[in-house]
Amino acid sequence: MTENKRQFRAIKGTRDILPPDSALWNWFEQTAHNVFESYNFREIRLPIFEETELFARSVGAETDIISKEMYTFSIGHDADAKEEGASAQTYSLRPEATASVVRAYIENGMQTLPGNVKLYYVGPMFRRERPQKGRYRQFYQIGAEVLGQSDAPAIDAEVIQMLMTFFKHAGVTRTTLYVNSIGDKNCRPQYVELLREELRKVAGQLGPDSQRRIETNPLRVLDSKLPEEQPIIEKLPRISDHLCQACQEHFAKLKEELNLRGTACQENWRLVRGLDYYTRTTFEVIAEGLGSQNAVCGGGRYDGLVELLGGPPTKGIGFAIGTDRAILSIQESGKLPQLPGLAVFVAWMGQAAYPTAVNITRKLREAGLAVELPAEEMKFKKSLGLADKLRARYALIIGEDEVKAGSFTLKRLADSDQKKLSEFDLLEYLESERRDTRA
Ligand code: HAM
Repeated sequence: MTENKRQFRAIKGTRDILPPDSALWNWFEQTAHNVFESYNFREIRLPIFEETELFARSVGAETDIISKEMYTFSIGHDADAKEEGASAQTYSLRPEATASVVRAYIENGMQTLPGNVKLYYVGPMFRRERPQKGRYRQFYQIGAEVLGQSDAPAIDAEVIQMLMTFFKHAGVTRTTLYVNSIGDKNCRPQYVELLREELRKVAGQLGPDSQRRIETNPLRVLDSKLPEEQPIIEKLPRISDHLCQACQEHFAKLKEELNLRGTACQENWRLVRGLDYYTRTTFEVIAEGLGSQNAVCGGGRYDGLVELLGGPPTKGIGFAIGTDRAILSIQESGKLPQLPGLAVFVAWMGQAAYPTAVNITRKLREAGLAVELPAEEMKFKKSLGLADKLRARYALIIGEDEVKAGSFTLKRLADSDQKKLSEFDLLEYLESERRDTRA
């Protein structure tokens, strides 16, 4: 094959979401809009790329996400560089969106808005991870964040309740919610030091990644999945025994608040998360049947992040759902929602029928139905065959007889039931059918 005839393929770790899956994605995201808006969250649309430094400072320069997985590029033109100022040397595709939400919150002075600022976002994120089932280099998140003056555990509980309610509505069942508290700036440093000391004692028994993390980020050792490290990790000191009074109370109250809302959870002292901005509450949702990439959501509290990025003292909490994985989990469960699809295929025949076909198609579409109108005349049998293949619910037959009689023949393709209807009755019948399938 010559070079200019070669076929292009999606880049490793990226993929196309094709119909009919795209309809499931739309429905999933729409369900999130509906549930989140019912909790009085509002959508924020964010840039896909930001200054590299924004992510480095918030997620943490030593984390895998920042140190190994970002897609980073420099500004191409000198003129741009001048305009952006010397600080903006490099940009990165966003690996997550919490940093952007906090940047937008500060930049737009959102702390002056009444009450807590409750935002959600939907869109692609980019991490150069090793692709596998459920792990992509371009993947999608639906996230929510609450920013404001209060760190009341009821806020954490409401955010988590909203998340689990959404999963229920979207059919992401067979899930487990894990919660933990990783302390705050008063108690965590001492715990991290203690952990480091204990880890140094057993360093020889740990793998190279964990050994490195003893110095860079000992908490991350708790996240290790290596089977040979598990018995060692189980004997390490637990954060729950080293929380300060305030953090202990916060965590106890969170569990009480979750209980009050009927949101079941399990405590997991090893849930430390892979991003540095967390304080106190951390949580994750695991779904069955996804193999090793089974975390469908991660989140937590980040009370110092707004200040760290140059804003006023502000508390924050949020989560991000991995849409790719959540959708996989719905598909694996086999319980797909009934989505409307193609309602009517207009099987017209003879040029005399064509104007009627164009007209009724417009009216049906205006009534909210999905309608396919063949652009060229087709033989009757071929037309009905195509209607079947396209999985239309009805074929609307318009031939010379129908035009003469001023009526339509509506054939239900599932059972070949056929009715002759006037235009008025046809519209009424199909509209009521549409209401029923959406109900
Ligand atoms: P995260 O745990 O890094 O947290 O990502 C959240 C979710 O995104 C994961 O649980 C997973 O479902 C999905 N995810 C992550 N990486 C990939 C990938 N390579 N392929 C497919 N799915 C992936 C955050 O991003 C935080 N910003 C969450 C947050 C919001 N914390 C507070 N507010």
